[in-house]
Amino acid sequence: MHSFCLKMKFLAFIALCAITSAHDISQLKVPLYADPRRAAELSCHFKMDEQKLHSVKWYRDTNEIFRYNPQQQPAIRLFNITDVMVQGGDCQKDFCVVRVMPPPISTRAAYTCEVSTEGPRFQIVRKTKQMTVVAMPQADPVIIGAQKVLKPGDQIFLNCTSDFSLPPAEINWYIDEELQKLEAWQKTEVTGNQPGGLRRSWRVLRLRVPTTASGAMRVRCEARLQVLPPVVKEVETIITIHSRTQLSKYVSNNSGTKVVNTVVLIASIILLTYNEISRFTSL
Ligand SMILES: *[C@@H]1O[C@H](CO)[C@@H](O)[C@H](O)[C@H]1NC(C)=O
Ligand SMILES: *[C@@H]1O[C@H](CO)[C@@H](O)[C@H](O)[C@H]1NC(C)=O
Ligand SMILES: *[C@@H]1O[C@H](CO)[C@@H](O)[C@H](O)[C@H]1NC(C)=O
Repeated sequence: MHSFCLKMKFLAFIALCAITSAHDISQLKVPLYADPRRAAELSCHFKMDEQKLHSVKWYRDTNEIFRYNPQQQPAIRLFNITDVMVQGGDCQKDFCVVRVMPPPISTRAAYTCEVSTEGPRFQIVRKTKQMTVVAMPQADPVIIGAQKVLKPGDQIFLNCTSDFSLPPAEINWYIDEELQKLEAWQKTEVTGNQPGGLRRSWRVLRLRVPTTASGAMRVRCEARLQVLPPVVKEVETIITIHSRTQLSKYVSNNSGTKVVNTVVLIASIILLTYNEISRFTSL
């Protein structure tokens, strides 16, 4: 049993040696998201296993954008392809870094690092990772027009605006966690272009308080960037439903005054500033 284990360990060791001793790419770093306003840095680390490096090539999808060939002059060559500007790079015997300026449009592309050895073997290894051009919204979306207290049967219009982003956000409205189907005129609108292609989005929600409603309504606006993986920012507001029918049950011309005052006071606490409340309670 013991010797069997030793044997297994020995075999595992051999296997490990075989893997680590091959010329290989040990690490490929490509940012998941690239900001269109600044250059993205991509790096490729490799092990040569006593073989001589012939070249390192970078590809965006199938297009070569960069080549490092230490035997040639100049050793580094950049290839501009549509929409992508390769700013430069730095390569040594075990790593190669390139800086690319992403296009100001939301795209997803595959970046490949390819390392090949000198003859006679001319072995090639490559690794690929995806990069999506995204300008993250810095702030949460903002809801305009939300009143804190409404009555059953009320109708208001809320406007939710997202922060600048690329791609522009899609706006979704939820009432009590239920996605709101929107009327045709309530499409997400986008503002004009900023540098880097960034835009703000806004969308209006017509909020009708059901005549039977009471308690509170939770209204949430979600700004969603349809990229892979998606980026979501959101904001929520609570609207208190202040029911007049409930109130009138307690109202009577003779004895109801005290009860009415209490109900009004509760509803008003939400609206009044601290000073106003103390003035009210001192009545
Ligand atoms: C790539 O394009 C940029 C801007 O258009 C330019 O400055 C740069 O010299 C170009 N590089 C090559 C290798 O063509
Ligand atoms: C919604 O807000 C955005 C900016 O915050 C504004 O440009 C737009 O006109 C507003 N829409 C409506 C219908 O008020
Ligand atoms: C109080 O009574 C008067 C007549 O008695 C009536 O017109 C009025 O609507 C009543 N008010 C309320 C709040 O019920």
